[in-house]
Order: sequence, then C-alpha cells, then structure tokens
Amino acid sequence: MAAKRVIVAIDGPAGVGKSTLAKRIADKLGFAYVNSGAMYRAVALWALRLGVATSDMHRLEQLSNEARIELPPGEEHRVLLNGEDVSEAIRELKVSQAASQISAIPAVRRALLQVQRDMAKKGSIVMEGRDIGSVVFPEAQVKIFLDADPIERAKRRAIELHGHEENVESIANELQKRDHRDRTRSEAPLVQAPDAQLVDTTGLSLDEVEEIVLRLVRARVSNGKAATG
Ligand code: DC
Repeated sequence: MAAKRVIVAIDGPAGVGKSTLAKRIADKLGFAYVNSGAMYRAVALWALRLGVATSDMHRLEQLSNEARIELPPGEEHRVLLNGEDVSEAIRELKVSQAASQISAIPAVRRALLQVQRDMAKKGSIVMEGRDIGSVVFPEAQVKIFLDADPIERAKRRAIELHGHEENVESIANELQKRDHRDRTRSEAPLVQAPDAQLVDTTGLSLDEVEEIVLRLVRARVSNGKAATG
C-alpha cells in the first residue's frame, strides 16, 4: 500500500526561525518545503512595483490571482515571480510591511490558499506560515507552533540581516508591529491551533529545536506512513 501523504504545519510569529527550521525538517524527512510567507511577499513586491496601494483590494485580488509564484526545490530559498528570481527583493523591509498589510485582505488570502493546498497534492510537505495548521491544512497530521521571546527574535533577525546584533531595538519594533497586525486581523489571524504543539525556542539552538520538532513529527508518523487521527 502506498504511504499516506503527510503534512507538517509550522506556524509562528515573525523572526522566530520558521523558515530555517522548516527547510531542515523537510530535508531530513525528504518532504517538499513551502514558505507561504514568500508567496504573500511576492504579491506585495509586485504591488509595490506597480504602485498599487495596499488599500486597493480589487487590484490586489487580481494580482494575487495572476501572479505566477514558484518555489523551486533546492538548497536556497529561491522564489520566482512571473519567472523572475525575486528571492532577495522580497526580503526588503518595505516588502515585509506590505506583505503583512495585503495578507489581511480576504480575497488575497483566498487566491493564495488555493495555490498552497494544490502544492500539497503532489506528496508529503512541510509548510510554514501563520495559518497553516489553523486554516490551510486543519487536517495536518503534525502541527507545530513556534514561539520565542521578542527580543531574542529581534537579535536572531539582526544577525541574519547584518551578521551581528545591530539595530535590535528597531527590528524588535518592526516585528512587534507586524505581529500585532498578523494576530489581530479578522481573516486567518496568526493563532496557535488548538491541536498544535507549542515549542518555545527561547534560549535553544537551531539543532536543539530541530531535534525537538523531529521527535514530535516521528511520534506522529511511523515507517513513512502517517499515524491515523
Ligand atoms: O513569514 P514571513 O515573515 O515571510 O511573512 C510575511 C507576511 O506574510 C507576514 O507578516 C504575514 C503574511 N503571512 C500570512 O498572512 N500568512 C501566512 N501563512 C504566511 C505569511
């Protein structure tokens, strides 16, 4: 009998380390990896380039439906928008802010939700974001909610951006603003699904977090087959 498709949903606030962790877990398990935030970022980048206001719901809905977003598998976190490699461009601060704004629009979420669900049709997957366990895949066999102290998250982000702890306070402010918006929007807010396992990564190394999460995944999935329930 063919092994059942397994979905690992990883959610949590900005800067908690979801992408790095999710990619590592996917590689270890041989699953596909999808960064759903990159999809919102790609639409936001397109809107910024075209000068579409973050309040123009109609145009943003159109862009979300028309955007060809590809996340090619491989070592790097590559993101293609309409065939162009935008991996670097979508990491800019103004894109982070715009992504958080446009992701509150229900029609934008609807368009990307469909793309995200389609991505899991091909096989087992690790997908990370804000609403993966709560909305995109409520049936996921494994749901992890990552969290960490806000200052530690800002320090990690600073090291990622500058190679050392620089501008920690302003980064903390930006993360806090984005988290507040992501948590308080009415459509698919950032929330820990009731059946998600909380992993507080404060003070833990990436290796330690990886070990905890892999243990949780393996407890739910045995011999390459999904545990029932
Ligand atoms: O994960 P990230 O920081 O790259 O996400 C950028 C923004 O996209 C985030 O502030 C909120 C939005 N987002 C979302 O609303 N739902 C998701 N599943 C992933 C991201």
